[in-house]
Amino acid sequence: MPERSYDVVLYGASGFVGKQTVQYFARYATAESVRWAIAGRNRQKLEAVRDQVGVTVDVLVADSQDQQAIDVIVSQTRVVLSTAGPFALYGNALADACVRFKTHYVDITGETPWVRTLIDRYHAQAALDGTRIIPCCGFDSVPSDLGTYLIVRHIQQALHLPCQQVVAYFQATGGFNGGTLASAFNLYDAQGLKQMSEPFLLNPSSNQSQSQIERNRDPQLPSFDPDLNTWIAPFFMAPVNTRIVRRSCALFEEWQEPYGAADFAYQEYLKLDEPLAGLKAVGLTTGFALLMGALQQSALRSLIQPILPQPGDGPSEQTMNEGWFSCEVVGTASDGRKVRGMIRDQGDPGNRATVKFVCESALSLALQIDELPGGLSRGGILTPATGLGSVLAERLRRAGMTIAIPLE
Ligand SMILES: NC(=O)c1ccc[n+]([C@@H]2O[C@H](COP(=O)([O-])OP(=O)(O)OC[C@H]3O[C@@H](n4cnc5c(N)ncnc54)[C@H](OP(=O)(O)O)[C@@H]3O)[C@@H](O)[C@H]2O)c1
Repeated sequence: MPERSYDVVLYGASGFVGKQTVQYFARYATAESVRWAIAGRNRQKLEAVRDQVGVTVDVLVADSQDQQAIDVIVSQTRVVLSTAGPFALYGNALADACVRFKTHYVDITGETPWVRTLIDRYHAQAALDGTRIIPCCGFDSVPSDLGTYLIVRHIQQALHLPCQQVVAYFQATGGFNGGTLASAFNLYDAQGLKQMSEPFLLNPSSNQSQSQIERNRDPQLPSFDPDLNTWIAPFFMAPVNTRIVRRSCALFEEWQEPYGAADFAYQEYLKLDEPLAGLKAVGLTTGFALLMGALQQSALRSLIQPILPQPGDGPSEQTMNEGWFSCEVVGTASDGRKVRGMIRDQGDPGNRATVKFVCESALSLALQIDELPGGLSRGGILTPATGLGSVLAERLRRAGMTIAIPLE
């Protein structure tokens, strides 16, 4: 890659999550001598963020719809980190420029129908050029994807067996961002829900049999899990995360680095603790189903939307500091033996953890490109596991996250 002015440009730096990426880079990237800049559509807002954080970095301005201005930014950097969402609205020109200028890219989208459009438009070219375009590097879907990758590789290396299945169990507390709600509403408005329900939406090819599709449908009901000895319920992020994990599995298969058995399966759930775990599981599942049903009515959506947090809003500092998540991963080897692991961190998953995930993803690309899985030639619309793998896991550990796979 010819010399460029910046290692990383933080696009969307004036947003609720964007500001936190600026704080993160100010704290950690400067120490690693990373050349970085902030970018977005509004110079005044960006300069205010820069001054609030107290860093001396360049401010680059381009509206997401202005392809020429976006091109100027993307051509000057080795890596783009974008937090400007809804990505289906603000992400197209940026992704297009990254592919043309061979600039690596990470973001925090969970909008899988949009990721599907990236795969259709750009995977072949980015793969040819060795450009890593890696969406879903936030809370969706790093723990699911990296947790599965690490447990599968452990089973292969320590037990010398293929992996049959992985199940992840999530627990989390935190807040909701207005930007996240805006992205969800945009998905509803664009009729993206039906597409999101396809279990293999992000796989390279759609040659799965009907029985495979049925086996991998999203769980709809709560149940008692005898292995965990507690109740579990459908996890609302699973329709995003499971598609990413299945894409990782399929890409590794294509590259002859398979995850395991031909019918390797991945699912994830919300885990409920006693007391009243069963009641909580039923209550949450029913409440969520009712909410989803209500939101499908556009009239109800327009009634509810104004009273919810708006773009630019998010939880308080206290809520973000007191939040946390845990992701328990259980892998089953082909002989039935189970291996357990855990990814866990303090801080609101949608903000603190997401910022750590995406910033360390960008830093993996900027600082350790030659150590990433697949070598310098790997490219395409990748996933956290296929594009960043153990390098990201190690960086997250150094950044204070618990990644214990296997559990000692
Ligand atoms: N993966 C995860 O776990 C996770 C967690 C949190 C958020 N997210 C996603 O991240 C995205 C951002 O969330 P957020 O809470 O930070 O939202 P936000 O505060 O509303 O920020 C949105 C950003 O997009 C920018 N933007 C809007 N219109 C633009 C345009 N035409 N051109 C360029 N930039 C434009 C905004 O710029 P201005 O400041 O100038 O308006 C702002 O910087 C959402 O899609 C959300 O779903 C994902």
